[in-house]
Amino acid sequence: KILILDFGSQVTQLIARRIREAHVYCEVHPCDVSSDWLRQFAADGNLKGIILSGGHASVYDVDDRAPDAVFELGVPVLGICYGMQTMAQQLGGQVQGSNTREFGYAEVRAHGHTALLKDIQDFHAPEGHGMLKVWMSHGDKVTNLPEGFKVMASTPSCPIAGMADEARRFYGVQFHPEVTHTVQGRAMLERFVLDICAAKPDWIMRDHIEEAVEKIRAQVGDEEVILGLSGGVDSSVAAALIHRAIGDQLTCVFVDHGLLRLNEGDMVMNMFAGGSSYGRPEDEPAPSEGSERSERGGKKNHAKVVRVDVSQLFLDALKGVSDPEQKRKIIGKLFVDVFKAEAEKLKASGAGHKGATFLAQGTIYPDVIESGGAKSKKAVVIKSHHNVGGLPEQLGLKLLEPLRDLFKDEVRELGVALGLPHDMVYRHPFPGPGLGVRILGEIKKEYADLLRQADAIFIEELRSTIEPNSGKSWYDLTSQAFTVFLPVKSVGVMGDGRTYDYVVALRAVQTSDFMTADWAELPYALLKKVSSRIINEVRGINRVTYDVSSKPPATIEWE
Ligand code: XMP
Repeated sequence: KILILDFGSQVTQLIARRIREAHVYCEVHPCDVSSDWLRQFAADGNLKGIILSGGHASVYDVDDRAPDAVFELGVPVLGICYGMQTMAQQLGGQVQGSNTREFGYAEVRAHGHTALLKDIQDFHAPEGHGMLKVWMSHGDKVTNLPEGFKVMASTPSCPIAGMADEARRFYGVQFHPEVTHTVQGRAMLERFVLDICAAKPDWIMRDHIEEAVEKIRAQVGDEEVILGLSGGVDSSVAAALIHRAIGDQLTCVFVDHGLLRLNEGDMVMNMFAGGSSYGRPEDEPAPSEGSERSERGGKKNHAKVVRVDVSQLFLDALKGVSDPEQKRKIIGKLFVDVFKAEAEKLKASGAGHKGATFLAQGTIYPDVIESGGAKSKKAVVIKSHHNVGGLPEQLGLKLLEPLRDLFKDEVRELGVALGLPHDMVYRHPFPGPGLGVRILGEIKKEYADLLRQADAIFIEELRSTIEPNSGKSWYDLTSQAFTVFLPVKSVGVMGDGRTYDYVVALRAVQTSDFMTADWAELPYALLKKVSSRIINEVRGINRVTYDVSSKPPATIEWE
């Protein structure tokens, strides 16, 4: 295994992803673990190497340093950005503060004699030496090498952009190999973990299913589990996996908050209940006030799903609220409240069983890292996500999170292996707050209805338009695509009449990690068709725009 110590960079989890993609198991832990903890972590003899992540701070502003044991265990260490600076400082070198930040694309002269960079380069400079195209992000820089180190990479403004002590196998790079903008980044990380650390590439999904099923069975025994199904990839795969392990001991609760896409609720129910209708059993408790409840499934190959329609409740709670963070918080809290109430009912009623003692969640590894589960407390909160919370303690339930160690692409691989429909598993991600963050400002049902229709047209056209060179649909060629409702009106002309209607923005991005993203260069013909269909078919929208902002500095969602 490889250990990544997190100094708070927004992209730390990408390091972990790249390493998992090389089929090497790794874990992210906060940088302030103690040396004792680290020695304990390494005690089983499986620790093959350590990576120190970047941070958003300066070595002068914070006293974050790696535990001393990092440099005493005899395993290779790679410091990235802040990680390199703290390594330099802790080992006796010098770091100089700076008021200017270098940020973005850079070309770095690479000293290919080092084990880390040997034969890895993008092109040759006219003088003959190898060059790398990288993503730089730094203010401070290393100005004096610690003893034993030599320069491994340099730029005119950053003469020590990389350093190496090959005897101790300590390496530092000032740029970020984990982001895709660093063209050879993957090759460098693979070189580090596979060659320099000699970690075994034995992390494979097929084996993981058996292991995960066994683990769930052992953890749950003959007790019962409830799971909050959102229809998203994560909770669906979690449901399928847990169902594979314990069958009817699992009940899923699907909270329909009314901020879902067109027909999404029915789709979720069909997927899990196999399209069969299923009446409410005699002993089923009556629907709670303001909510409609229906249950399906419970048959051999299908998980039991209880659907709760609480759209009105959500609309009422969001009335008059336009601040994005406040909206997110309200949706998150209400979701938890409704789910809690349903879970209590299931617990109490037993509905033919003993009542649940476990709460399952589709938490995946990035959620764990982002929500501070791995105490990445130093990262700045950009948006409040609402998947991981204190729910289980409040409910008095034990937590079951079978996807906790997995990244998104690993979850998808698992979903397909479990037999979920390919289209569902490879669906674009959909945020927890749903259309709530795609209707700018105050949320109204009228807006949600217009947005659903427009969005469905966009997605339909993306799915049916094939890009001839790749033979793939534009849906598959984009990582996330959706429509945003803008609560402003503009003037238009239709037939002989004047219109004064709403505007929508189409958003389509390409990204491999959702931390950075480029807007997709969709063909004009496709945009034209989508625009004319939306304006003609959705009464109430008379203008369609296309969002041409990348992340950063924009985010993917508009709120
Ligand atoms: P941003 O807008 O931050 O989005 O660039 C990055 C990715 O995260 C998704 N997203 C969320 N997912 N709960 C989620 O489960 C949330 O609250 C949430 N907010 C944003 C977004 O759709 C994109 O894929």
